[in-house]
Amino acid sequence: MKISLIAAMAKNRVIGRQGDIPWKIPGEQKLFKKITLGHAVIMGRKTFESLKRSLPDRTNIIVTRQKDYVADGCIVVHDLLQALKSCPQNEDEAFICGGGQLYQAAFAMADRIYLTVIPRDIAGDTYFPEIPATEFRVIKSETIAVAGIEPYDFYIYKRIK
Ligand SMILES: NC(=O)c1ccc[n+]([C@@H]2O[C@H](COP(=O)([O-])OP(=O)(O)OC[C@H]3O[C@@H](n4cnc5c(N)ncnc54)[C@H](OP(=O)(O)O)[C@@H]3O)[C@@H](O)[C@H]2O)c1
Repeated sequence: MKISLIAAMAKNRVIGRQGDIPWKIPGEQKLFKKITLGHAVIMGRKTFESLKRSLPDRTNIIVTRQKDYVADGCIVVHDLLQALKSCPQNEDEAFICGGGQLYQAAFAMADRIYLTVIPRDIAGDTYFPEIPATEFRVIKSETIAVAGIEPYDFYIYKRIK
């Protein structure tokens, strides 16, 4: 099973502010849905609480250290290895969907990174990790043009070692 991170970040690597995502970009949610639909999505407890409900048509796995945590429609686990073991047996690609703590914890295991980049700095308090050029190469790069806002970029990185 491939392990992939999927995130959207600003130019200054910000992914969140005060428990939420500090932007709304048309098409970004659609892209996230298209890529993750039918797969296992693994997220930290804070990201789950920011979504307020499980993501439909995906196996939702929530990581928390709280032993008695309950999340409606989700599998609750207490570390990343347990999260990976909880993916359906036939899963070919599991997605780590954030937030900052989960990306950091899973970075060393990631085979791929799906990354949307908004080409301006945005104030925030949660960041996506640096991607070392010695560890990953870009296998897809696309600029997405949307009416009324500046175009944004979408990359797929593949681990080279
Ligand atoms: N732009 C994007 O693509 C994107 C995507 C997702 C989220 N976000 C944003 O990111 C922010 C949230 O990120 P965050 O870093 O604050 O929180 P987070 O990673 O979503 O969740 C952190 C929580 O997950 C649990 N956890 C983390 N690592 C763990 C581990 N190794 N083992 C067991 N449990 C672990 C802990 O839960 P307990 O405290 O319950 O033990 C921890 O408090 C929000 O602003 C959100 O909107 C942005």
